[in-house]
Amino acid sequence: MKIAIIGTGYVGLVSGVCFSDFGHEVVCVDKDPRKIEMLERGEVPIYEPGLDTLMAKNVEAGRLSFTLDLQSAIDGAEAVFIAVGTPTRRGDGHADLSYVMAAAEEIAKAADHYIVVVTKSTVPVGTNRKVQEVVAAANPGLEFDVASNPEFLREGAAIDDFMKPDRVVVGVETERAAKVMEDIYRPLYLRDFPIVTTDLESAEMIKYAANAFLATKITFINEIAALCEKVGANVKQVSKGMGLDGRIGNKFLHAGPGYGGSCFPKDTKALARIGQEHAAPISIVETVIKVNEDTKRRMTDKLLDLCGGSFNGKKVAVLGVTFKPNTDDMRDAPALTIVPALVGGGASVSVVDPQGRREGEALLPGVTWEEDPYAAAAGADLLVILTEWNEFRALDLKRLAGGMATARLADLRNIYAVEDAAAAGFTAYESIGRAGFSAA
Ligand SMILES: NC(=O)c1ccc[n+]([C@@H]2O[C@H](COP(=O)([O-])OP(=O)(O)OC[C@H]3O[C@@H](n4cnc5c(N)ncnc54)[C@H](O)[C@@H]3O)[C@@H](O)[C@H]2O)c1
Repeated sequence: MKIAIIGTGYVGLVSGVCFSDFGHEVVCVDKDPRKIEMLERGEVPIYEPGLDTLMAKNVEAGRLSFTLDLQSAIDGAEAVFIAVGTPTRRGDGHADLSYVMAAAEEIAKAADHYIVVVTKSTVPVGTNRKVQEVVAAANPGLEFDVASNPEFLREGAAIDDFMKPDRVVVGVETERAAKVMEDIYRPLYLRDFPIVTTDLESAEMIKYAANAFLATKITFINEIAALCEKVGANVKQVSKGMGLDGRIGNKFLHAGPGYGGSCFPKDTKALARIGQEHAAPISIVETVIKVNEDTKRRMTDKLLDLCGGSFNGKKVAVLGVTFKPNTDDMRDAPALTIVPALVGGGASVSVVDPQGRREGEALLPGVTWEEDPYAAAAGADLLVILTEWNEFRALDLKRLAGGMATARLADLRNIYAVEDAAAAGFTAYESIGRAGFSAA
C-alpha cells in the first residue's frame, strides 16, 4: 500500500520509517527544505536511537522517500497521515490547530481519488470532524474518510514503541476506512498487539487522557518528594514501596525536577482548556499544571540554597539539558527554566549534554558548552545533574569533587546515593525527596 506522511518531525519520521519497514511504500513530506535535503542525503534531522539505520535500510529497499511536493506524495496513496505540530496557542493554552488544518486543506486540493485522511497529531476532541469539513469544503467532489490514530511513542524509544506498541488506537466511522487502517497495521494485528477501535471523539480523548494521567502520576510523586524532604522520608523508598502495588505500577513514579518535553506540558494545558470550554473542568489537571511549575521553581530555590543565597559570581556546571535522555528535544525542558535563572542571577554556567547542543545553543544564551563533565566541573562552585543520560550515571564522583572550587552537588534525578556523594568529598549535596547534607 502507498502511504503519505505529512510532517517529518519526531512522530512523522518515525512513523514513516516504521510503516516502510512493515513493507508499505511511504513518501514523507515536509515543508522545511532543510529537513528534506538532509533526509535525501540520508541524514536524520533529529536524534532518535536506531532511526538512521532503519531509515537507510528502507530507502535502500526503495520503499521510503522524501519530498517537498505534497502532490506527488498523494498520487496513488490510499492513506495520508497528518503528523504536524500542535503546539500551545499563544495566550489561551488551546492547541494550535493551524498546521493541522493547513495540511488538511493541502491534502484535499492535491487528492483526486478515495483517500483516508488520518490524524496522527495530538488534537482536541472534535478536530477530526473539522478536518472532515475542511477537506470537503476544499475539494467538494472528493471521496474520502477521516480517521483518528493518535501516537503514543516516547522519544528515545520511539522505534520500539512504534513496532511493539502497548496498543494502537484507531478512531473510524466507516467500514472502508477501517479496512484501510487494518491493512496498514496488519503486521501488528498478526503479532497480536491490541488494536482499540473507537469513534473519532473517543480516540482523540484517549490520547489526552493518557498523557494527562501520566503527567499527574509524575507530579504526584514530585509533590510527595517535597513532603518527604520535610518529614525525613526517602522518596526512592516510597516510590518503590508504592510501585510494587500492581494497581499503581512503578513507571512514571520517579521524582525529578518537573515534567517537560514536547507533549505533557502542551497536552495538559490543552485538556484543561477543553474541559473549561465544555463547562466540565478537569481540576486535577489544572492543579498538575500549577504544581509542575512550582516544582521547577523549587529546583531553582534548591540551587540557590546550595549557593548560599546568591548565584552571583558562582561557577555552575550543568549536566544534561534535554528534557529526558536519548533525545535532542529541548521543548519545555526544565533546563529552560533553571539555566536562565542561574545565568540571570549572575552565575557563569557551563553545560554538557550528549545531544542537546544543536538545539540548546539558541535556547540557552550565555552558557559555555563543554564536551566532558570533568572539564565542565573544573573550578565550579556547584554541579547540577539535570538529565539522567547514561553518560552521567557512573561518574567518578571523587574526581569531580576534587576538581571543583567548592564541591557541591545538586542531583536532581536522584542518580547517586547520598553516602557516595559524602564519601567522594562533596561538602554539600541535595537531591529530590531525600535528606541531603551540607558541611557549612
Ligand atoms: N514528539 C513526541 O514524542 C510525540 C509523541 C506522540 C504524539 N506527538 C504528537 O505528534 C504531533 C507531531 O509532533 P512532533 O514532535 O513530531 O512535531 P515536530 O515539530 O517535530 O514536527 C512537525 C513537522 O511538521 C512539519 N510541517 C508542519 N506543517 C506542514 C505542512 N503543512 N506540510 C508539511 N510539513 C509540515 C514541520 O516542518 C515539522 O517538520 C504533535 O501533535 C504531537 O503532540 C508527539
